[in-house]
Amino acid sequence: MNFKQEIARRRTFGIVSHPDAGKTTLTEKLLLYGGAIQEAGAVKSNKIKKGAASDFMEIERQRGISVATSVLAFEYEGTKINILDTPGHKDFAEDTFRTLTAVDSVIVVIDVAKGVEEQTEKLVEVCRMRNIPMIVFINKMDREGKDAFDLLDEIEQKLNLKVTPLSFPIGMGYDLKGIYNLHKKNVHLFTGNSSKDIHSTTEIDDLNSAALDELLGSKAAGTLREELELVTGIYPEFNRQQYLAGELQPVFFGSALHNFGVKELLDGFVEIAPAPRPKKAEERLVAPDEKDFSGFVFKIHANMDPKHRDRLAFVKIVSGKFERNTAYKHVRLDKNLKFSSPNAFFAEKKKIVDESFPGDIVGLHDTGNFKIGDTLTSGESLHYKGIPSFSPEHFRYINNADPMKSKQLAKGIDQLMDEGVAQLFTLELNGRKVIGTVGALQFEVIQYRLEHEYGATCSYENLNVHKACWIDTHDWESEEFTDFKRVKSKFLAKDKRGQLVFLADSAFSLQMTQQKYPSITFHFVSEFEPLVQE
Ligand code: G4P
Repeated sequence: MNFKQEIARRRTFGIVSHPDAGKTTLTEKLLLYGGAIQEAGAVKSNKIKKGAASDFMEIERQRGISVATSVLAFEYEGTKINILDTPGHKDFAEDTFRTLTAVDSVIVVIDVAKGVEEQTEKLVEVCRMRNIPMIVFINKMDREGKDAFDLLDEIEQKLNLKVTPLSFPIGMGYDLKGIYNLHKKNVHLFTGNSSKDIHSTTEIDDLNSAALDELLGSKAAGTLREELELVTGIYPEFNRQQYLAGELQPVFFGSALHNFGVKELLDGFVEIAPAPRPKKAEERLVAPDEKDFSGFVFKIHANMDPKHRDRLAFVKIVSGKFERNTAYKHVRLDKNLKFSSPNAFFAEKKKIVDESFPGDIVGLHDTGNFKIGDTLTSGESLHYKGIPSFSPEHFRYINNADPMKSKQLAKGIDQLMDEGVAQLFTLELNGRKVIGTVGALQFEVIQYRLEHEYGATCSYENLNVHKACWIDTHDWESEEFTDFKRVKSKFLAKDKRGQLVFLADSAFSLQMTQQKYPSITFHFVSEFEPLVQE
């Protein structure tokens, strides 16, 4: 197979959902189709169970699983599929946002009974902003849920999407009789125990045939015909270009638990989802089929063994072929690095590979060279954009609880921040360090890991911050800016990259500050087009 064919057969995507919608179950069924696992129940759930927030063994166990499920790769009918794991738990939302920079498309899972939930809204918004192609899978059709048309309406309203069903349910809950595949124009009957044998389903090719009445009963067959008439009347015809541009989202229905409607989803996905696409670097647009290798780090995972502090940096290959034992340029450090044991991922295993292609993820052993967002190339100085930090939700001072271990603490904090566990801000006024996180859970994770991996102990102190705002202005020497710095000196800090941040203590004070200093722009994301170009 030549280089271009290797790229064309790759599908790298993420599954996003609110916790409990069925992401793990669906992932497992997809792996079954790929023959990557032999039985249901093999993919361990990496959910942080409710109430387990302070159970550190649980957190460690989750970390162990999450490295195993970070990338699940398998072959399906000649297609190489890479599923990138995205934690559903809201405390790890930042992790999910970063992973979404490495996918070429996503599948959004929605629970038919619960409809559109909070986490789904947030994640879909991020995908929409980036024009990531999305397929919607409405799950748990074996249960009583919302009416299909109402749900499609809710998806359009709440998620601001434009949908078109590619499959449609025949009944629901106890009355679920099957799925009509609008794309392939056939009927797939639900036998109720299809989870036992993923191939035992009956198909009917013609919607108008009397055989449909025989199979479903004339009432259900009649309802289906009516509903399909409505579907084709209301929803636009599927158009792949619109889907790829993020302007149209095809919808599939099914039950992941019963492995029903999953094959329709997978076949549809393989057919329409994009192969790796060109990616914007600060310098230029980079196409996957360029000869020279380039890629970027979107995730760093610490070693589970505290005796070895090496880490695994996950690199998404954007262009060219990645080869083992070849020197690549680490652009930020301007230094060449060689990797003797790059890992590729297969189902739940990783193994050392000699070469990988665009769309693939390689795991590189790292002793502290990498930060999230770093670019690696064959030599060109490229910088991939788009791994911004968002304003954290929780802020606390971090103090050293053992003066003998201040070096260990500094190193630990440094490395955990590189991994993206939380964000660090250093106050301008007194150099005190503030940790900002998306969820309260991270504070406990940090404290635990500092102690177990670095031998350092820390304590926290509450700090009242409403939002971190990255600051920009046309004139950093202006009187207005000088006044702002003087008046607000207590609230100013630098982030890890040295960018100036205003830690607003309330929504009101932020509003007042914005009014008083109109020449200053306050961003809630760390990455923006600067007002003054260097
Ligand atoms: P998540 O990763 O999105 O958080 O969801 P997960 O797959 O873990 O599924 C959450 C719960 O929903 C699980 O039940 C799972 O069995 C169930 N589920 C998933 N898909 C379907 C479906 O199509 N139909 C029905 N009826 N249930 C489904 P649980 O009781 O929380 O866990 P478990 O004890 O079954 O593992």
